Amino acid sequence: MKNNRWHILPDPQTLAETAAKIIEECSQSALTEKGAFKIVLAGGTTPEKIYQHLAKIKTDWSCWSIYFGDERCLPIDDPQRNSIMATHSWLKHVSIPENNIHPIPAELGPEAAAQRYAGEIESALPFDLVLLGMGEDGHTASLFPGQHHNTTELVHPVHEAPKPPPERVSLSLEALNNSNTVIILVAGAAKRKAVQQWQADEDLPIASIHGRNGCEIYLDLAAQP
Ligand code: 6PG
Repeated sequence: MKNNRWHILPDPQTLAETAAKIIEECSQSALTEKGAFKIVLAGGTTPEKIYQHLAKIKTDWSCWSIYFGDERCLPIDDPQRNSIMATHSWLKHVSIPENNIHPIPAELGPEAAAQRYAGEIESALPFDLVLLGMGEDGHTASLFPGQHHNTTELVHPVHEAPKPPPERVSLSLEALNNSNTVIILVAGAAKRKAVQQWQADEDLPIASIHGRNGCEIYLDLAAQP
C-alpha cells in the first residue's frame, strides 16, 4: 500500500520555501530527539532554491551530516556535479564540519566510487531525511527506467544513463528507502506525464520510493496532471 502524501504548491518559489521549512522542521525534531540529523541531498536543478533558503536558517550546523543520493562521474570540481551545486548554493555558506559532509567520490569512476561509498552509507543508515527529485522519465537519483541493478548493493555503479553524463553513482532503492522521512520535489510541466504515470502506479523508479513511513511529495501546479 503506497503511503504517499501529495502537496500541491502554486509555483516553484512557494515549493522551494515550503520544502525548506519542512526540512528545517525535520532537522529540529532530529536534533531535539538525538542531537544529530542525517540528510541525503537530491541533485539536479530543482533543489537549488531550497538549498539557498537552507543556507539562511538558524540551527546547530555541527549536528548535521550530509550525504548525496547520487553523483555524476565528472572531475571533482566540475560545476555539473551535484555536490558542487549543493556546495555553492548552501554548504560553503554554513559551518557544517567538513568531516560531516560525505560527497560521493564519483571522480574515481562508477565501480570504485560505489564500492567506497557503500561503506559510508552502511554506517550512516537509517537516514533522518532523504531528498529526491524526479526526471521526465520517472527516474530518481540515478535510478533510470529499464536499468537493473544488483539489489544486494547499497550503492550502484551506473553506466549508459539516458541523462548525461552516462556514468554515475546512485544510492540503491534499499538505501534511499531506509529513511524516517522522504521528501520528493517535482516542478515544471515537463514532469507532468511522469507524475500521471506514477499516480497510475506504472513501473517507474520513483514509484519504488516509499521510505520507512511513506513519502511527502511536493509538486508545483505545472507538474500536476
Ligand atoms: C541528477 C539528479 C536527478 C535529478 C532529476 C531531476 O543527477 O540529475 O540526481 O535524479 O534529481 O533528473 O532533475 P531536475 O531537478 O534538474 O529537473
